[in-house]
Amino acid sequence: MSAPPESRPFAAQLSSVYFTILTLFCFKIFVKITLNLLTHFYVIRGNRKEAARISAEFDFGQGHRSWADRSPLHDAASQGRLLALKTLIAQGCNVNVLTIDHVSPLHEACLGDHAACARALVEAGANVNVTSIDGVTPLFNACSSGSAQCAELLLENGAAPQADFCQASPIHEAASRGNVSCVEALVTWGADVDYDIPHMGTPLYVACMSRELLCTRVLLNGGANVQKGKFLESPLHAAAQKNCVEIVKVLLEFGADVNAKNQDLKRPVEVASPGGLAEGFLLLYEAVPRTLSQMCRLTVRYSLGRDRLHLIPQLQLPKALEKFLQYRRVDVSHELPC
Ligand SMILES: *[C@@H]1O[C@H](CO)[C@@H](O)[C@H](O)[C@H]1NC(C)=O
Ligand SMILES: *[C@@H]1O[C@H](CO)[C@@H](O)[C@H](O)[C@H]1NC(C)=O
Repeated sequence: MSAPPESRPFAAQLSSVYFTILTLFCFKIFVKITLNLLTHFYVIRGNRKEAARISAEFDFGQGHRSWADRSPLHDAASQGRLLALKTLIAQGCNVNVLTIDHVSPLHEACLGDHAACARALVEAGANVNVTSIDGVTPLFNACSSGSAQCAELLLENGAAPQADFCQASPIHEAASRGNVSCVEALVTWGADVDYDIPHMGTPLYVACMSRELLCTRVLLNGGANVQKGKFLESPLHAAAQKNCVEIVKVLLEFGADVNAKNQDLKRPVEVASPGGLAEGFLLLYEAVPRTLSQMCRLTVRYSLGRDRLHLIPQLQLPKALEKFLQYRRVDVSHELPC
């Protein structure tokens, strides 16, 4: 009686939507349980091969992997069976076939680091921007598995280097996994190095938290803002907290502020583990004046701005100076991870 009459049909519609969702959910649970029982049954009966096949088909560990309606193309792509994949394509299979979760064969090929399969799929017209219901793109999967080859292939074929608002971010993934080649490819193709996700922070922050020295360097060389971390927490806070001296050094070299305060009003040196190497290094750094060359380098880079850093070679400077401005004194590949 209290509800206005026109709101009732809407409420009824809403409840039927909820009911449908519940039914689908129950159905999915039912299939999962059945498959699990089946696997169990095969193991008990000693048919381990069949059990392995079933459990490979439905993989608990991988949230973004759908098993219920995978096509043969999905299987071939995820196992890297190029010949089978090409045969299926030649037989006219749709390369853009999706599972319930919108996972495509291209997703599978990239997750498995099967570049040749990914290439075959792309050449046959697979959509490089396809997004699963978890917001995962093939590029994200390539970064997840550290497959620089797949990442480059996707980027060359027009994949968006930057995640949309509701998508998982490839550059964060690559930075946290420490795959330099993937980060480099993303930066080259124009991914935003300062892309800030509220609950994760910037790619630089993620790299520092994961103690990935080389990725930290690549991001900074790509123009990442050395102060931008997660909310008030700077990348230097992260490196100090992780007691990672090598990264602390690199961040300071790129002009990180030793006096930045985090949300607890603590400076990086105050979040470093007491008596640790990072704390010692920061204390020493604070006591020693900056060199003039370092101050000049930071000023020049700052005046140029992030978008013009790649123009440094055009400044007609002596080679040594040019290298110095680009932090290219040391051979990055010979550095030790921390
Ligand atoms: C990163 O990618 C390259 C090229 O694909 C690969 O050789 C390397 O093992 C990967 N590194 C990591 C840490 O996964
Ligand atoms: C993928 O998405 C990006 C950005 O939205 C767009 O510029 C690009 O054209 C798309 N690529 C293809 C092949 O559709």
